Amino acid sequence: MKILITGGAGFIGSNLTKRLVKEGHEVIVLDNLLRGNKIDRETFTKITFVNGDVRDADLVKNLSVGCDVIYHFAAVLGVDVVADAPVETMDVEVIGTRNVVNAAEQNNVAKILYASTSGIYGHSAIENALTEEVLVDPRTSYAMAKRYNEIYLASHHEEKGLNAISLRFFNVYGENQDNRMVVPRFFEQAIQNKPITVFGTGKQTRDFTYIDDTIEACVRLLEIDGYHIVNIANEEEWNIEDLAQKIKDITGSKSEIKYIDAPRKRYDYEVERRVGSSDKLQRLINMKPDTTLEEGLKKIYNSK
Ligand SMILES: NC(=O)c1ccc[n+]([C@@H]2O[C@H](COP(=O)([O-])OP(=O)(O)OC[C@H]3O[C@@H](n4cnc5c(N)ncnc54)[C@H](O)[C@@H]3O)[C@@H](O)[C@H]2O)c1
Repeated sequence: MKILITGGAGFIGSNLTKRLVKEGHEVIVLDNLLRGNKIDRETFTKITFVNGDVRDADLVKNLSVGCDVIYHFAAVLGVDVVADAPVETMDVEVIGTRNVVNAAEQNNVAKILYASTSGIYGHSAIENALTEEVLVDPRTSYAMAKRYNEIYLASHHEEKGLNAISLRFFNVYGENQDNRMVVPRFFEQAIQNKPITVFGTGKQTRDFTYIDDTIEACVRLLEIDGYHIVNIANEEEWNIEDLAQKIKDITGSKSEIKYIDAPRKRYDYEVERRVGSSDKLQRLINMKPDTTLEEGLKKIYNSK
């Protein structure tokens, strides 16, 4: 297949690019290299790389000619980055997605797989793991724009028959991630024997999904038609204090775990509990992300 990946030089996108190239697909990556280029050298020689902006409608339209699928992953993310640039965050989401949808419809692209986020659940009530049916609670510029795009894609499906999947990623982590995110930040602090800084009490929980499981789900979902919102979640609930301790143990670090107040700009992002259900993913493709956090963290450490 011929596949366009927006944001394909990023953490998740570069792993997806590598996998799709290995499977023999023709891959075009559109990325403005806001975060540098994470595509490995060998893969890079086998793709068409375009340094450009997903907000450029003509560019997106031209690049999607003849494509079978678009993975739309370009985004501005990371709590501190988004808090400092909420307008750019929303513009890249909303204008970028509109461009991708228009291009797909004009060029008869069969499917869009869009990177949404578990951030959409905000402070949604949790009794059991979050399913796609619970009432969502997006509060930040980032989560609100992602939710808007989920509904925008659903609307295009209803009115024009577009096939699309909104992937609600739950804290994806793995090798080659940069330290905007908590796992690489803790590894860096632990390896340097510097204090591992935990915001608040450290009792807040998250569901960490290993990159290889995430990519497997992204690829297998190519088989599914229609419009779907689907969690990509591991279903293991870990608190941040235990994550810090686990990374400390794995690295044999002498770091202390230091509790600090979250900066004011992070308040809207601070959520007490988040764990996702992967039941729907299992129903759709009979797959569950099952790498445990301990296994995933050890893989990262062994690759260093
Ligand atoms: N990593 C996670 O845990 C996580 C969780 C939920 C959702 N997501 C979503 O998954 C997708 C990929 O995330 P990631 O972790 O790989 O992040 P990333 O920052 O590593 O990758 C995003 C890529 O988009 C590119 N980009 C940004 N603005 C652009 C623009 N205007 N035009 C073209 N390219 C642009 C960046 O240069 C970067 O390479 C994003 O849409 C993100 O919102 C990620």
